[in-house]
Amino acid sequence: MNRPITVIGVLGSPHRHGNTEILLDTFLKGATEAGGVAEKVILSKLSYSSCKGCNACHKTGDCIMQDEIHPVFERMLDADCLAVSSPIYTMGITTELKGFIDRAHYIWVRHFKLKTHPLPPEKKVLHRGYFLSTAGMDREDVFATTFPMMQALFNIFGFSYCADILAKDMDGSGGIYGRPDILEMAYQNGYEAVRGIQKKEPCKR
Ligand SMILES: Cc1cc2nc3c(=O)[nH]c(=O)nc-3n(C[C@H](O)[C@H](O)[C@H](O)COP(=O)(O)O)c2cc1C
Repeated sequence: MNRPITVIGVLGSPHRHGNTEILLDTFLKGATEAGGVAEKVILSKLSYSSCKGCNACHKTGDCIMQDEIHPVFERMLDADCLAVSSPIYTMGITTELKGFIDRAHYIWVRHFKLKTHPLPPEKKVLHRGYFLSTAGMDREDVFATTFPMMQALFNIFGFSYCADILAKDMDGSGGIYGRPDILEMAYQNGYEAVRGIQKKEPCKR
């Protein structure tokens, strides 16, 4: 029997059950209903520190800080699909998510500097990454700072950056339930992510 498609959703919002978590849950519901096995990682519940920049990993490929982040990174490396979410805080991603991404520096070192754990070329092609975000303001550029960080995160872990699912103007629409079209888009992306991986199709972005 084929093993199930695994999907990890990372909640970067410290605010539980808000716009971002509802959007992420909708993606994960689509993924589950397509036959995937989903796990939600709630960063605000994890105990981890920010990267100290000691660069010990440049020599060893390991991080000197032993906390709850490493098992999550191991599961992310094994997952078929990664959905990362954050609200916009002061025109960027949350502290929780930025601190989490910075801690993956040792994974970058292993893959791209020391090359002790090279990523197989097919990994990135068939592993799908999605970014979900919500913002209060109705500004075209409100998500602009986030995209390079997501690209870097997906590169480090070996995922194709397949799509952004973005809900701006949450203040104007009374929250995410005022945008059923975007919730539907999140559901469809979750569903199609799993179906696409099952069929071994690269995403079309
Ligand atoms: C500390 C803080 C900073 C924020 N900064 C911005 C901002 O710069 N631009 C914006 O459009 N919305 C901003 N917002 C609004 C949130 O992005 C928006 O309400 C989002 O949908 C909240 O998601 P949540 O319900 O998951 O917490 C900010 C909210 C907070 C709490």
